[in-house]
Amino acid sequence: MPTIVVTNAKGGVGKSTTSILLATEIAHAGNNVKIVDCDPNLTITRYFSVCAQNNNAPDRLELIRNQDKGTIIPTIKALDVDGGFVIIDLPGASSMLTSRSISRADLVLTPTKPQRIDAEIGMETRDIIKEEEEYLGKKIEHTFVLNEVSGVKSNEAKGVEAALVGQGVDLIHPSLMKRVPYSWLFSFGGDLRTIPDHVGKRKAQLEAAAFTEAVLDRLERIAQEGRDE
Ligand SMILES: Nc1ncnc2c1ncn2[C@@H]1O[C@H](COP(=O)(O)OP(=O)(O)O)[C@@H](O)[C@H]1O
Ligand SMILES: [Mg+2]
Repeated sequence: MPTIVVTNAKGGVGKSTTSILLATEIAHAGNNVKIVDCDPNLTITRYFSVCAQNNNAPDRLELIRNQDKGTIIPTIKALDVDGGFVIIDLPGASSMLTSRSISRADLVLTPTKPQRIDAEIGMETRDIIKEEEEYLGKKIEHTFVLNEVSGVKSNEAKGVEAALVGQGVDLIHPSLMKRVPYSWLFSFGGDLRTIPDHVGKRKAQLEAAAFTEAVLDRLERIAQEGRDE
C-alpha cells in the first residue's frame, strides 16, 4: 500500500491542502484512502467535522488521528493492509514524529510556497530523509510541489524554482496555483466537485487531477523499481 508523507517544517505552505487534494482525488478515482492527521492544529480533523456537518464526506476516505511518536509506526503498519493509500499530514515543525513517519514513506512530498524561506526550510527534509535512508539502508523518494503560485510568476518564484531544480530536486508539475476552490475545501468539506460554483472551479479540478496523476506516476515508478530489485 502506498504511503505518502506530506511534510515541511514551515507552517502555512499547503501541507494540509495538498493532503486533502490528493486524498479526495485518489478516493474519487475509486481507491481507499486513510488520511492520518498528525497535527495538533487538527486541520484535517476539522475538515472531516465540516464534512460531517454538511453530510458530504467523500466515499472511501477515512480519518485517523495520531500525534504520538511512540505509536505512529505501528499505526502506519496497521493501516498498510488493504492495498489502499495512506496519506500522512505532518505538523509545521520537525520532530521524531516526522522522522518516524518518513521511515515508513514510499514517497515524501514537500509543498512549498514559491518563496525562498519556505523552500529552504523544505530542503531540510532532505537531511531527515538521508538519516532515515542510512539507518534503514533503503532509498526514500522525495518530491516537491510549489503551492500558491500566482498567475504571474514573480522573480522570486522563478528563482526558487531554478534553485530547487539546480539542487536536483524532483519538482512535481503542475504546480498548484493560488485558487479559492482549494481553500473552500476547508469551509465546505466534500471535494472539488461538491464545493459551490466558482469561476475557478473547473481549472482547479483539472489542476488537482493532473497534480494527483503526477504523484501517482511517481508511486508507480517506485513500485516498479521495487519489483525490479
Ligand atoms: N493553493 C492554494 N490556494 C488557495 N489557498 C491556499 C492554497 N494552499 C493553501 N491555502 C490556504 O493557506 C492556508 C494554509 O494552508 P495549509 O494547507 O493549512 O498549510 P500547512 O498545512 O502547511 O500549514 C489555509 O488557509 C489554506 O486554505
Ligand atoms: Mg497543516
